[in-house]
Amino acid sequence: MTAVHNSTAADEVRHIEFEAAPARFARGWHCIGLEKDFRDGKPHSIQAFGTKLVVWADSQGEIKVLDAYCRHMGGDLSQGSIKGDEVACPFHDWRWGGDGRCKQIPYSRRVPLRARTRTWHAMAQDGLVFVWHDHEGSAPIPEQAIPLIDGGPSDPTWTDWAWATTVVNTNCREIIDNVVDMAHFFYVHHAFPTYFKNTFEGHTATQLQKGVNRDDMRPAEVAIGAPKRLGNTSVATYHGPSFMIDDLIYHYEHGDTRTVLINCHYPIDENSFMLLYGISMQRPEVEDDDPAAADALAAKMVATVRLGFEQDVEIWKNKTRIDNPLLCEEDGPVYQLRRWYEQFYVDADQVTPEMTDRFEFELDTTKPVEAWQREVQENVARRAEAAAAEAAAAAVPQTQDA
Ligand code: FES
Ligand SMILES: [Fe+2]
Repeated sequence: MTAVHNSTAADEVRHIEFEAAPARFARGWHCIGLEKDFRDGKPHSIQAFGTKLVVWADSQGEIKVLDAYCRHMGGDLSQGSIKGDEVACPFHDWRWGGDGRCKQIPYSRRVPLRARTRTWHAMAQDGLVFVWHDHEGSAPIPEQAIPLIDGGPSDPTWTDWAWATTVVNTNCREIIDNVVDMAHFFYVHHAFPTYFKNTFEGHTATQLQKGVNRDDMRPAEVAIGAPKRLGNTSVATYHGPSFMIDDLIYHYEHGDTRTVLINCHYPIDENSFMLLYGISMQRPEVEDDDPAAADALAAKMVATVRLGFEQDVEIWKNKTRIDNPLLCEEDGPVYQLRRWYEQFYVDADQVTPEMTDRFEFELDTTKPVEAWQREVQENVARRAEAAAAEAAAAAVPQTQDA
C-alpha cells in the first residue's frame, strides 16, 4: 500500500534558478577613473567590456579611447607611446588618431584604405573620465547624460577626490542589487537603517536611506580613528547602469558633514568588474581651519567605504547567482530593480515601459527597527558583562603555582 501524500506549497523545496551571466554589457556611460591619471602624456590600458582599450589625452586635452589591439598585427597600443596627437603602436609604429584612423606608417609609402579601428565615445567632467558602451554601437543617448555633481572637487570649498579601486570577481548585477537591499546594511555593514525608500524612473534608480549609528559597533569606528558618528542621511542615485552619485550627510556630535560618494564600476568581462569609488567632502567653515585636515578626514572616510565594500565582496565571493530570490515582506523591490536594470542590456528598441516607468517603494521599517534595537541592546549588554568579568578577574590576586 502506498501512502498518498498531499503535497502543499509549504512542503515543496524551493529551487534556486539562475542562468549564466549575460554575455553582453550594459548600455551607458561607465566611469573609468580620475581625469588627472590619464593626462600624463602616456597611453593607458583599460581591460573592459571583454576587451582592452587604450586611453590617452591629445594635445587639445581631449580624452581619446580606441580598441587597444592594433589592426595591423594585433599589437597592444596601450604599451606604445603618444607621438604628436596619435598613439604609436609598439610593434611597428603605426600611428592611430583619436578618430580611429591610421594617420601614418613611417616605413610605408601609403596607409591602407581600411586602416580604421573602433573608437569609443569618451568625456570628462567633475575630474572623472567616462566611456560610453553600447552593444549596438550607437552614439551616447542624450537622456542618459551624467549630471554635474552638486558640490565635489569642482567646487573649491570641497576636497579633491579621495579615490580607490578594486577588482571584484563576480557579475556586476550583484552590486546593483544593493540598491534595494536594506537588511544587508545591518547584517553585513553593521549599519542601522531606519528609513528606506526606492524610486526608479527612466534610466535612474534611487535609494533614500536614513540611519543611526550602532552603539555595539563603536570599537570598529574607534579602531580606524574616525570621529563618533550619530547617523547619516543618504540619497544615492544610479544614473544609468553603473554610475552612482550618493549625496551623503554624516551626522556627528559636533554637526553635519556633507559629502559626495561616488560608487561606480565597469565590467571587465561577464564574471568580473572594476569597482571604483571616491569621496569628496565639504570643508568645514571654520576660520584658520587647516585645509589638510579635511583631506585627511576624507581619506579616512574612503577607508571606511573600503571596509564596507570588502564586506560586500566577502559575501559575493561565496554566494551564488540567483534569478529567483525568495523574498519576505520587509525586503526591497529586487524584481522591479532588475527589470529597471534590464533596459541597459536589451536592444534599444526592446526597452519596455515596465523597465522605465516611475516606480516608488517605501519599506515599512517598523519590524526591522524593533528587532535590530533589541539585537544592539543585547550586544551592548553582553559586552558590558564580558568587560565586568574581565575587570573582576584582573582584580583577583594571582595565586602562585608551586
Ligand atoms: S601591430 Fe601595431 S603596428 Fe604592427
Ligand atoms: Fe553592500
